[in-house]
Amino acid sequence: MKFFIDTANLNDIKEANELGILDGVTTNPSLMAKEGITGEQNILDHYVAICNIVDGPVSAEVISTNFEGMVREGERLAALHKNIVVKIPMIPEGIKAIKYFSSKRIKTNCTLIFSAGQALLAAKAGATYISPFLGRLDDVSTNGLDLIAQIRLIYNNYVFDTEILAASIRHPMHIINCAEIGSDVMTGPLSAIKALANHPLTDLGLAQFLADHAKGN
Ligand code: G3P
Repeated sequence: MKFFIDTANLNDIKEANELGILDGVTTNPSLMAKEGITGEQNILDHYVAICNIVDGPVSAEVISTNFEGMVREGERLAALHKNIVVKIPMIPEGIKAIKYFSSKRIKTNCTLIFSAGQALLAAKAGATYISPFLGRLDDVSTNGLDLIAQIRLIYNNYVFDTEILAASIRHPMHIINCAEIGSDVMTGPLSAIKALANHPLTDLGLAQFLADHAKGN
């Protein structure tokens, strides 16, 4: 399973990249705003800064909600760097835009996926990735993992190339469960990625090894 980090924070991106396990980055307008990145040129520059840290797909989201605007914005984003993936919301105009970008061989990430029907439409339009929002479904008492499993089944049935990018990951169990189900990619915060490494028995065992080594020297 590929590991993407879901942030626009350059320090977190650098730290995850230095672990050597990072395959890409996803951002969204909320994450950009959280880092105080505002204004068109600053936003474009920030995407380039991310691409200069990580050698992998970097999702950059359009703000337009109509086909023409999405195409204009997406082409500008795609021209920034070869690793940019144009992130497009799951709305009818977005489906048209995904189809357009697919015909131009520009990669897309269809975001705000909350149903299998939406995932099916995005795959038919030729999306490179779809982002089902696992945590946000869990937040409303709906099992996000069930949706990912359902999409996995549908994509396998028809051998769609579209990759399932599990988004809205909140904790390490989400990552492990996504790996069990066969999600192609997960995108989560640095905290959830780093938490995968934690185990008290590892800490205890290491302390014991070091103490025993110190006794013999
Ligand atoms: O980037 C999309 C998604 O990962 C957002 O996550 O935590 O805001 O639900 P969250």
